[in-house]
Amino acid sequence: MHISPSRPPPAVQRNEAVLSLIGNTPLVALRFEPEGVTIHAKCEFLNPSGSIKDRLAQCVILDAEARGVLGPDSIILECTSGNTGISLAMIGAALGHRVTILMSESASNERRQFIRQFGAELILFESGGSYQTGIDISLEMAAKDSRYFLPRQFENPLNAEDHVHTTGQEILRQVPHPVAAFVAGYGTGGSLAGCGKAIKAGCPDARVIAMEPDEAAMLAGEMPCCHWIEGIAGGFVPPLLRSAPLDGSIKIKSAEAMAMTHRLNRHFGLLVGTSSGANVAAAVKIAQGLPHGACVVTLLCDRADRYFSTRLFKDPAAALDSPSI
Ligand SMILES: Cc1ncc(COP(=O)(O)O)c(C=O)c1O
Repeated sequence: MHISPSRPPPAVQRNEAVLSLIGNTPLVALRFEPEGVTIHAKCEFLNPSGSIKDRLAQCVILDAEARGVLGPDSIILECTSGNTGISLAMIGAALGHRVTILMSESASNERRQFIRQFGAELILFESGGSYQTGIDISLEMAAKDSRYFLPRQFENPLNAEDHVHTTGQEILRQVPHPVAAFVAGYGTGGSLAGCGKAIKAGCPDARVIAMEPDEAAMLAGEMPCCHWIEGIAGGFVPPLLRSAPLDGSIKIKSAEAMAMTHRLNRHFGLLVGTSSGANVAAAVKIAQGLPHGACVVTLLCDRADRYFSTRLFKDPAAALDSPSI
C-alpha cells in the first residue's frame, strides 16, 4: 500500500479581485413623468453579490484581519436574514475564510442557495424564533468556541462609519446639485446613519428621512406588524440609528412598495428588490413636496434574483392581493 508522506494542508489561496468590484456604484437619474419628479438612485444592487451589504462585509473582514482577530483558523459567524450572509460568504470565499451563517428556516430558498454556492455553512433555526433567537445562538456558539469571529452588523460602528467614508462620499461626488433630501429604509440602520452623516456634512441644508413600512412604523411610535419589504424594519429600532441625523420619517405601505418595485422592474428595466421600490416610492413622495428640481437621493439596495420564490415574482395584481407572509 502506498502511503503518501504527510504534508501540511495547502495554504488557502487569497483572491482579492472581487473586492475591486465593491462600491463606486453609479447614481442614476430616474424620471417619474406623471409625478413630475426626478429621483437620484444609487445602484447598490450592482455590487458583486448583488447588494449594499458587500460594503459592510468587506469593511468588517478587512478590519478584523488588520487587527489580528480574524486569522487562518477563524470562522466568521453571523445571524442574518439574507444579504449580509450572502456578502460575508462571497468575501469569505475570495479571501479563504470559513463562514457560518445562521438564518431563520423561513428565509427564501434562493438566499440559502447563494450562501451555499459560495461554500459557506448554513445553520437554520426555527422560523417561529425572532431575529434575537439567531443572535443568541451565535453568542452561545462563540462562547464555546474561540475560533468564531462575529461581525455583529447591528452593533458594529464600522457598519455606519464605512458608509460615511464610501457610499456617502460617492453620492456627494455624483449628485448634479446639492442634496435636498436623502431618503432610505433601515435594517441595521448603517446605510441610513452613515450616508445621512456624510450628506449632512457636505450639504448642511439636506434633510435626512427614514423610510419605514406603514405596517411597522417604529420610529413613528407604532407597534411592528408583518410587512412585505424584505431586508428592512426587523421589528425594533436598531442601535446604529440612534446616531443618525434624522429630520423625519415617512411611511410606505407594503403594497405601495411592491407596486413601485414592479414599476422599476417593468418600466425602468431595473431588476431590484422590494426595499428599493419602497425607497423610491418614499423618495417620489418627498420630492413632490419640495421645490421643482430639488435633488432627492435614495438607494437601490439589492437585486431581485434573491426573491424569485416570493410574491415579487407573482403577477403584479396577484402579488398585491395575496395574504401577507
Ligand atoms: C434588501 C435590503 N434593503 C435595505 C437594507 C437596509 O440596510 P441597513 O442594514 O444598512 O439599514 C438591507 C439590510 O440588510 C437589505 O437587505
